[in-house]
Amino acid sequence: MIDFSTQYLGLKLNGPVVVSSTPLSESIDNVRRMEDSGASAIVLHSLFEEQLALESRTLDDDLSRGTESFAESLGYLPDLKDYRMTQEGYLEHLRQCKEAVRIPIMGSLNGATTGGWVRFAKDMEQAGADAIELNTYALATDKRQTSADLEGQLLELVTAVTSAVKVPVAVKLSQWFTSLPHLVSQLEEAGARGVVLFNRFYQPDFDIETLEVRPTLHFSKPSELLPRLHWAAILYGHVNLDIAITGGVHSAEDVLKSIMAGGGVVLMASALHIHGIDHIRKVLDDMHYWLEKREYTSLWETRGCLSRRSVPDTSAFDRGNYIKTLSSYSLRQTVGAF
Ligand SMILES: Cc1cc2nc3c(=O)[nH]c(=O)nc-3n(C[C@H](O)[C@H](O)[C@H](O)COP(=O)(O)O)c2cc1C
Repeated sequence: MIDFSTQYLGLKLNGPVVVSSTPLSESIDNVRRMEDSGASAIVLHSLFEEQLALESRTLDDDLSRGTESFAESLGYLPDLKDYRMTQEGYLEHLRQCKEAVRIPIMGSLNGATTGGWVRFAKDMEQAGADAIELNTYALATDKRQTSADLEGQLLELVTAVTSAVKVPVAVKLSQWFTSLPHLVSQLEEAGARGVVLFNRFYQPDFDIETLEVRPTLHFSKPSELLPRLHWAAILYGHVNLDIAITGGVHSAEDVLKSIMAGGGVVLMASALHIHGIDHIRKVLDDMHYWLEKREYTSLWETRGCLSRRSVPDTSAFDRGNYIKTLSSYSLRQTVGAF
């Protein structure tokens, strides 16, 4: 029997597959099935900054900060008449999940700026959340806003949340930061225990008939895993906080690659929507088979073996790889292909 047990955010987990934030965990039956299938923890769906501010009637205060994007996003809020999406409904659901299963349950907060809404992290903690995942999705649409402004805002938010709670906080990041290693080390100083690589970038689509811009959500593809592997491999060994990978993890091979890059756990959503919750069991069984065949006794023997600090040729992760990849593509191949 291969040992899959691990630690994430200081929590003891029985394996590397965590269920990522998705509406699938809005049902207690599903939450039980996730545990039965081998999920080692569950991150619940998110509550949004805008939603919390609106419900707490602090909207006027928040709007007076002049954040246009805040006002714009109100139109897209989940239906507050849906009890599960209210603060009390969310906390009640969290309590029910805690009663239903033994694996850790993490609350998810989704926002971009500090404000009274971060107090909800404390409510999640009191309702029994074992950890908080903070999804920070901010887009720069104003030319006066610098990268340093955005990073400063993020660090302020993370500090506000980590100071509000005792449970560990993981920060789910966008991949579009200029110097990720520097930012991640600052997040560590701000009290984060882990980073989740990466939030997916949900680009809107254009309808050329109605001339409308429409929100779109496609499930991920395994090819989306590559930038996550790349950054996990660079960060591993350089920062002390935990690295989790989300985005494009669909199969046992994807989980193994994530651990080899230096990830401590993977967070899966799309594959469970596509194949069903029982897919977790198949992924774990396939990993078991692969590792046993190669005589590993623990999954963690593979941890970080393909990280930047472990491979002999670090240029594979740097500019050298860029040059090598482009120059290895021969013109003759291209000519032959057309
Ligand atoms: C239907 C759906 C709903 C999601 N809702 C949330 C959410 O509320 N909060 C959040 O942080 N991530 C949310 N996500 C993102 C997932 O948690 C996950 O990080 C992302 O989809 C990448 O993982 P995947 O490739 O396994 O889908 C959602 C994803 C899907 C597919």
